[in-house]
Order: sequence, then C-alpha cells, then structure tokens
Amino acid sequence: MIVVKLHTEKPIPPLQLMRLYENVDWWPNRTKDGIRKMLNNSIVVGAWEDKQLVGFCRAVSDGVYRAYIEDVAVLTTHRSQGIGKQLMDQMIKKLQGIEVVSLFCSPKLADYYRSSGFDSTKQTVMHKTKM
Ligand SMILES: CC(C)(COP(=O)(O)OP(=O)(O)OC[C@H]1O[C@@H](n2cnc3c(N)ncnc32)[C@H](O)[C@@H]1OP(=O)(O)O)[C@@H](O)C(=O)NCCC(=O)NCCS
Repeated sequence: MIVVKLHTEKPIPPLQLMRLYENVDWWPNRTKDGIRKMLNNSIVVGAWEDKQLVGFCRAVSDGVYRAYIEDVAVLTTHRSQGIGKQLMDQMIKKLQGIEVVSLFCSPKLADYYRSSGFDSTKQTVMHKTKM
C-alpha cells in the first residue's frame, strides 16, 4: 500500500532521497548535508511503500504569493500507478491559497501537469547557477 505524507509527518532520511535521485538519474552532486538542509527549508511530500521512499516532490514558497514545485520523481519500478498524481494532489492541497504556483518541466510532460490544473506560459525561464 502506498502512503503519501508530508515530511513534517513522516521525515525523509536524506539517504533514502539520494537513492531515489540516483534511480531517476538526478543530482549526483547533492550531498547528504545539502539534502538535509533542503528538506528542512522546503515543503516536502514523500510517497512510501512500507519503509521505502518510492516517490517525492517538494516546493519552495513565500507562503502567500508564490510557490515553485521541484523534483517530482517516482521510482522507475513504481510508475504508472498514480503515485505522481497523489504527490501532486497532496502538494497542491498544502499550497492552497498561494496566488501562483509554478513548476518547470519538459514539453513532453506539459499534458501531465495540465491534468493537475497547470497551464504553460509564454515566459522564458532563466536560471543563474552558482559561479
Ligand atoms: C513524471 C513522473 C513523476 C510521473 O510519475 P507516475 O507515478 O508514473 O505518474 P502517474 O502514475 O500519476 O501518471 C502516469 C502518467 O503520467 C504521464 N507521464 C509520465 N511520465 C511521462 C513522460 N516522461 N512523458 C509524458 N507523459 C508522462 C503519462 O500520461 C502516464 O500515463 P501512463 O502510465 O498511462 O503512460 C515519473 O514518470 C518520473 O519520476 N519521471 C522521472 C522524473 C521526471 O521527469 N520528473 C518530472 C520533473 S518536472
């Protein structure tokens, strides 16, 4: 059985998240300490099968006007069971009342997020990485 919980209800050990990142081929340079800080400073939702973290997403927010959802990921072995949708539903519930909730995704995932109520914009996404 899959259970979806906020990090504040069921804390995610950094090592479990590192395993999930590895499974989806993301963020090989993120460290245990960095991930711990990230978890403490984000709104975080985890999907659990018993003691195994099988899905994750997080958001950063000012709590009023803006929030950004990041790092939506489900283990390859657990996809197409609606876990991604459950993570998004729980996150949107948690972010209820925020004026604009944004996320970045590849064009091929746009329809997936449209089904959770998101629309694409004509804005250009710009990033500045640490120098
Ligand atoms: C995107 C992701 C989180 C979806 O998780 P999930 O638990 O499989 O999602 P759900 O079961 O709720 O929905 C599955 C549906 O999502 C859509 N979908 C999932 N991945 C997709 C992709 N890469 N391209 C297009 N559609 C996709 C499909 O419609 C799929 O339906 P299907 O199972 O009938 O093919 C998961 O595929 C994942 O972890 N991908 C790798 C990381 C990633 O790209 N994350 C998104 C960053 S913005």
